Amino acid sequence: MPDFQHAQLDWDEHGQPLSRGFGDVYFSRASGLEETCHVFLAHNALPLRFAALPAGGRLTVGETGFGTGLNFLCAWQLFERMAPADARLHFVSAEKFPLTRADLRQALALWPELAAYAGALLEQYVAVHPGFQRFVFAEGRVVLTLLVGDVLERLPELDARIDAWFLDGFAPAKNPDMWTPELFAELARLSAPDATLATFTSAGFVRRGLQEAGFALQRVKGFGQKREMLAGRFEGAPQDTASPWFARPPHPAGAREALVIGAGLAGCAAAASLARRGWQVTILERRDGIAEETSGNPQGVLYLKLSAHGTALSRLIVAGFGFTRRLLQRLEPGRDWAPCGVLQLAFDAKEAARQAELATAFPADLLHSLDREQAEALAGVALDSGGLFYPEAGWVHPPALCAQLAEHPNIRLLTHREVLDLHREDGQWCARSGETLLARAPVAVLCGGAEIARFPEAAGLPLKRIRGQISRLPATAASSELKTVLCAEGYVAPLRDGEHTLGASFRFDSDELVLTAEEHAENLQLLREISTDLAERLQADRLDPAELAGRAGFRCTSPDYLPLVGPLADAAAFAETYAVLGKDARQVPQRPCPWLEGLYVSSGHGSRGLLSAPLAGELLAAWLDDEPLPVPRTVAEACHPNRFALRRLIRGG
Ligand SMILES: Cc1cc2nc3c(=O)[nH]c(=O)nc-3n(C[C@H](O)[C@H](O)[C@H](O)COP(=O)(O)OP(=O)(O)OC[C@H]3O[C@@H](n4cnc5c(N)ncnc54)[C@H](O)[C@@H]3O)c2cc1C
Ligand SMILES: C[S@@+](CC[C@H](N)C(=O)[O-])C[C@H]1O[C@@H](n2cnc3c(N)ncnc32)[C@H](O)[C@@H]1O
Repeated sequence: MPDFQHAQLDWDEHGQPLSRGFGDVYFSRASGLEETCHVFLAHNALPLRFAALPAGGRLTVGETGFGTGLNFLCAWQLFERMAPADARLHFVSAEKFPLTRADLRQALALWPELAAYAGALLEQYVAVHPGFQRFVFAEGRVVLTLLVGDVLERLPELDARIDAWFLDGFAPAKNPDMWTPELFAELARLSAPDATLATFTSAGFVRRGLQEAGFALQRVKGFGQKREMLAGRFEGAPQDTASPWFARPPHPAGAREALVIGAGLAGCAAAASLARRGWQVTILERRDGIAEETSGNPQGVLYLKLSAHGTALSRLIVAGFGFTRRLLQRLEPGRDWAPCGVLQLAFDAKEAARQAELATAFPADLLHSLDREQAEALAGVALDSGGLFYPEAGWVHPPALCAQLAEHPNIRLLTHREVLDLHREDGQWCARSGETLLARAPVAVLCGGAEIARFPEAAGLPLKRIRGQISRLPATAASSELKTVLCAEGYVAPLRDGEHTLGASFRFDSDELVLTAEEHAENLQLLREISTDLAERLQADRLDPAELAGRAGFRCTSPDYLPLVGPLADAAAFAETYAVLGKDARQVPQRPCPWLEGLYVSSGHGSRGLLSAPLAGELLAAWLDDEPLPVPRTVAEACHPNRFALRRLIRGG
């Protein structure tokens, strides 16, 4: 991450972008559009293959070098023209030097015929930071997974089956570091049987390298003045290296119908991701609407608690932040969310040191340090210290995000339905309340926070509840000057609807949800520690904790603070199948995992559900539909529900 940078461009007299670093063009000076059609679309036979997709079918393209996105937009346009209405395009592309949004806008203005597609890309082109970044277009018909970073580092993290490769990425002579046997081996590893490949180059070492990796290639006529290019097909054997307990479960048999239990952020996101893929989803919620429990706070903060050491949690947070941030582009600013930035104050020496480390580890457009004066100017109130500023973050009204996610013709919301019992009968999960059958489907997704422990299949998952309370403070004229979210041990947001949300207490031993004056008083103390000036502006000393409005809820956390997202296995059968690990943890017994067919979970989103729950929906859908994973394989495994059973076996505990 430290060496991350945006593309450095020069523009020629025709307005075409040139890479300063590589000294090469992004596309043919004659016609970038026609070049893309000839080299990548035609030589992967995409017109025919898109047209031949079955109803509900999917084609996955992989690309090296996203650049201006021209290839992506052309593929999308062709897909719209040729593919059946319910087919889907998944585009995975690696890019080491993403264009800035301004450069992207300027480059794409060259193609008025692509204006509609370019506009959609530009609208979503926010929070594009290192790692995996997922984009959803055309109501989910087209998905883009941008792998931000060196293709030689990102592809090994990818779990996908690619049907067609666009091997782009500047001329081999100008970019020799990329065109390597390691790259060709990765293309082979990720290829679906009979995957095709096309590249503009005909360099001999590229041809030989690809052949050695298992591709059969032909030299064919290149675009324009270019004499030759390469096109071919993967003829090697598919490779799958996942351990059986993290392997993809078989497709659940039966109709594409799913039950989602719980209508908070996790449930609404899971439902949205499935519905966009053509699943018919029934959400069962015990309350009288969505976001009535933990996801019901008036304001939640996009609070990125990162590590400078590239931990799985940190990578999940950066990917999740990007995904959530792009979803928010579709909500009403000011009412449903605000991109007002988040300022994490350097409130003591330890925090200041942590922040200094983070500032060197992440790009400045994700986070950067501010001294006290800069921080005060930005916040609009007096502060005791500077801090770390996240310019693209802000606050969100979680119920609005839940509502947006749950609004889809394929989603049916059934409220006042408490699932007390879940059983698999005749290939379907049957959800019951006493004797009453509430709904049934081949797939069920448990999204009820820590409550999922009531189902025996999930009872062994180590989930904990931590009560928390926020306080709703009436805004004053002076407090309305607050322009950004401020965080120290607690957080306070700029006003929404005449109030500021102040949070949040932690109670590890409470099962109650009644508001307490004690926790309001604690929150007011957190406010004073954030800014005495703001506390005065809010007249905190005159507020009576016993009279304050607020909300209490349970955070649901796991021992390693990562969420639990993915398929569930039968705990007893798992322990028996892999018992040998208790004696020798290095063994990988090739015995299939005893999955509980069609049973999935998204829970344990802790204190940052706004960042993790929406992307978790995409991860669940990827497990279910055998799609490219939206996060690195190691991150998906770090979130896998089986990790705890595995650790128990290995530690013998
Ligand atoms: C005080 C506080 C402050 C927070 N602040 C932030 C913040 O600033 N930023 C942030 O990102 N996160 C924050 N969080 C965390 C965030 O709210 C959670 O991570 C998120 O809401 C979890 O969503 P969920 O869908 O998993 O759970 P929930 O929102 O609790 O949803 C679970 C749903 O399942 C339903 N349910 C459960 N069991 C059943 C059943 N058997 N049948 C039917 N329905 C059932 C429940 O009624 C509920 O609606 C905060 C949490 C708390 C408590
Ligand atoms: C010719 S441009 C790609 C054009 C692009 N396909 C388009 O449609 O605009 C090559 C791209 O590859 C990227 N690139 C070069 N080396 C890379 C590497 N090692 N890893 C990832 N991307 C790389 C460059 O930054 C550049 O954006």
